[in-house]
Amino acid sequence: MCGEEAVFFARIEGAARTVFDRFGFEEMRAPILEARDLFRRALGAETDVVQKEMYEFTDRSNTDVALRPEGTAGVVRAYLENNFHKTKGLARFYYLGPMFRSERPQAGRLRQFHQIGVEQLGTESPYADAETIHCLTLFLDTLGIGGYELRVNHLGSFEEREKFKAKLRSFFESGKSRLCGDCRLRLEKNVLRILDCKVEGCREAAKGSPMIRDFLNQESRDHHACVCGALRAAGVRYSEDSYMVRGLDYYTRTVFEVTHPKLGAQDAIAAGGRYDGLIESFGGPKAGAVGFAAGVERLAMCLASAGKGESEKATPFFMVTLGERALKEGFKLMSELRAKDLQVSMDFSDKSLKGQMRAADKSGSRYVIIMGDAEIENNTVALKDMQTGSQDSYVKEIISHKLESLSRENIRRQ
Ligand code: HAM
Repeated sequence: MCGEEAVFFARIEGAARTVFDRFGFEEMRAPILEARDLFRRALGAETDVVQKEMYEFTDRSNTDVALRPEGTAGVVRAYLENNFHKTKGLARFYYLGPMFRSERPQAGRLRQFHQIGVEQLGTESPYADAETIHCLTLFLDTLGIGGYELRVNHLGSFEEREKFKAKLRSFFESGKSRLCGDCRLRLEKNVLRILDCKVEGCREAAKGSPMIRDFLNQESRDHHACVCGALRAAGVRYSEDSYMVRGLDYYTRTVFEVTHPKLGAQDAIAAGGRYDGLIESFGGPKAGAVGFAAGVERLAMCLASAGKGESEKATPFFMVTLGERALKEGFKLMSELRAKDLQVSMDFSDKSLKGQMRAADKSGSRYVIIMGDAEIENNTVALKDMQTGSQDSYVKEIISHKLESLSRENIRRQ
């Protein structure tokens, strides 16, 4: 990755750190390579991620390992291994880094991609759900990603979901012939995912299917009502989607997804929810948790499609020198200008004026600083505006002020 995408990545990471700091999240850097069973147990053995997408292998010491397909399982493992459940009480982490899923690569779907996520461990409060979602929307707003859609659902407890799944299974059983091959298998192993299938026949078959909300007890209903109330209080715009399910088995109660209309088929830019059973299933205490992860490449695609590439970029200057003496002096001046926060580059190869001007043009620099023997004699430098073609001469001592003011003007214009 380089160029505009790398600039977007840096900006996305910067916005994440700024916003997550405000919420009191601290960074966790978890390993990329983990025991394979960690993910099988956490995500669910029958999920697509575990069944079809995990990069797993047996290493030289005969240990089954996997490249992490997501960040939550590793954070929970580290939380327990470091005894944070005892020392921290409520633990709030964020992470960023590469994840791996063996999928057929296409726009927005990669085998190695990056996630930025947050996890709050040790809380069952519905306010923590709303806070997590608010953190995500503030992050997207800070980045300037407009036009996204946030959908929220409540999946109930595991027990409520089992009852719902049984009803769903008998509903789809009667229209089994209309389902695609994958969904016929899902009917046995992961019936919720039929609700998520993009195949037209399956979408048709799902119309009028039972809804989870009809299987929720009072406690779950109260939890959901409180999350929605707190979201409204925080000024978060969302819609409810009673058919939304998630691809990972650890979710309980609140789930949410953010999609962006500009992204085509792979339109989910972030997703998350509550996973109240996971800490306990890893041998920890009974403690609730909630989090989200956003796909960095997809966020970068949103920024690119909104034409956000050029803004905030420093104004680049290019140094052109003629002859050995000017090269030495030019190098010195460039180093001084860089120390003053100006972005200056130079082509050190012994090119002609024409060759260096061509290099300056390719670099995308708006202004070129020119230095030759005559300028050294007069203690001046020439400054050429590549856009207008005009060229002026400045006393060397004031050139940094001139460049600083050009840089400020350019930023105002952006
Ligand atoms: P997920 O929905 O599997 O959730 O992934 C979160 C985001 O990662 C997606 O919305 C998408 O933007 C991005 N993503 C996933 N797969 C790919 C891919 N192959 N290529 C590019 N981007 C991709 C999780 O991973 C959960 N761990 C989120 C979470 C955190 N839930 C609770 N805490």
